[in-house]
Amino acid sequence: MIFLVAGVVKTYFFVYNKRVRQINHNGRNGCMYRIVSKKPLNPTVTQMEIEAPLVANKALPGQFIILRVDEDGERIPLTVAGVDKTRGTVKIIFQIVGATTERLNHKNEGEYISDFVGPLGVPTHTEGVKKVCIVGGGVGCAIAMPVAQAFHEQGAEVTSIIGFRNKDLLILEDEFRACSDKLIVMTDDGSYARHGNVTVPLKEMLEAGERFDLIITIGPLIMMKFVTLTAKPFNVPVTVSMNPIMVDGTGMCGGCRLTLVQDGKRVTKFACVDGPDFNGYEVDFDEAMSRGRMYFDYERHAHEETCNLFKHA
Ligand code: FAD
Ligand code: FES
Ligand code: MG
Repeated sequence: MIFLVAGVVKTYFFVYNKRVRQINHNGRNGCMYRIVSKKPLNPTVTQMEIEAPLVANKALPGQFIILRVDEDGERIPLTVAGVDKTRGTVKIIFQIVGATTERLNHKNEGEYISDFVGPLGVPTHTEGVKKVCIVGGGVGCAIAMPVAQAFHEQGAEVTSIIGFRNKDLLILEDEFRACSDKLIVMTDDGSYARHGNVTVPLKEMLEAGERFDLIITIGPLIMMKFVTLTAKPFNVPVTVSMNPIMVDGTGMCGGCRLTLVQDGKRVTKFACVDGPDFNGYEVDFDEAMSRGRMYFDYERHAHEETCNLFKHA
């Protein structure tokens, strides 16, 4: 008799769990997040709007979310690239660089992702800044764009310098034009707009006597390091947006730690709760770059397992 009862209970839970999994995959469970729209911005960068009203209501420029594409997925941070409070949606813009972004890009409009947690991080400090220079590189421009919009909306004079490796990788030019008093577009190979990297026009402007209350730079670490070095002789404050590996996003795991040098002392900070914005003059960029390369072999292997292009090669 006892075995019969145990068997019935076991069957009940088996059917129940299967049903819950089905509901999750059908997206009828309230915890799933619907992809309201999906738009490629260039061959490797995609924009999505995700239905997440609670995040949309609270997010401010400079903050980010952590998502999981599906139940078995890893957690990845992406910046809030815009919100529509009326529709309860959050815009994300991501570059397909590895397994998880590849998996996310396989999802289509009307489908669902498992987790979408946020807003996380400290919003970008915008108060009191009257004249700002935004320097974005590659997909970093997606992170820089809402920041430029926030400065524009508060009446600041905005100069934007955006740089890409080539014309095919250009994103958000119209959006930057709409919120900038002056926009300079650079390509590394000269295939569009001005030839060269973003530090060239920045240096020219500073040498010509242009003075900004603040320079904000967002992009590859090496670019942010050189923007900071370019600004240093002119004593302009520089804010950099750090993008180390993040896991929990709440200051618990230590994965996102970085070193600042403050008054000659080395101080550990966590990008997820203390940042992602930091004073560029204090960041130990070389250490951050070496930490960023730590999981390269693992990431490459995971990408190869996800991407069909590798399988057919
Ligand atoms: P992988 O092959 O696993 O990794 C490729 C590279 O991405 C790694 O070398 C590493 O540099 C980075 N990366 C991998 N896992 C993580 C992780 N858990 N946390 C942080 N970086 C990781 N990218 C965008 O395209 N758009 C954004 O708006 C954006 N905002 C970000 C905001 C913050 C605060 C941070 C920290 C990162 C942001 N990134 C953004 C980077 C994005 O999180 C990574 O590109 C993504 O995690 C790559 O995952 P993957 O599995 O596809 O690639
Ligand atoms: Fe874990 Fe920042 S992501 S401490
Ligand atoms: Mg990954």
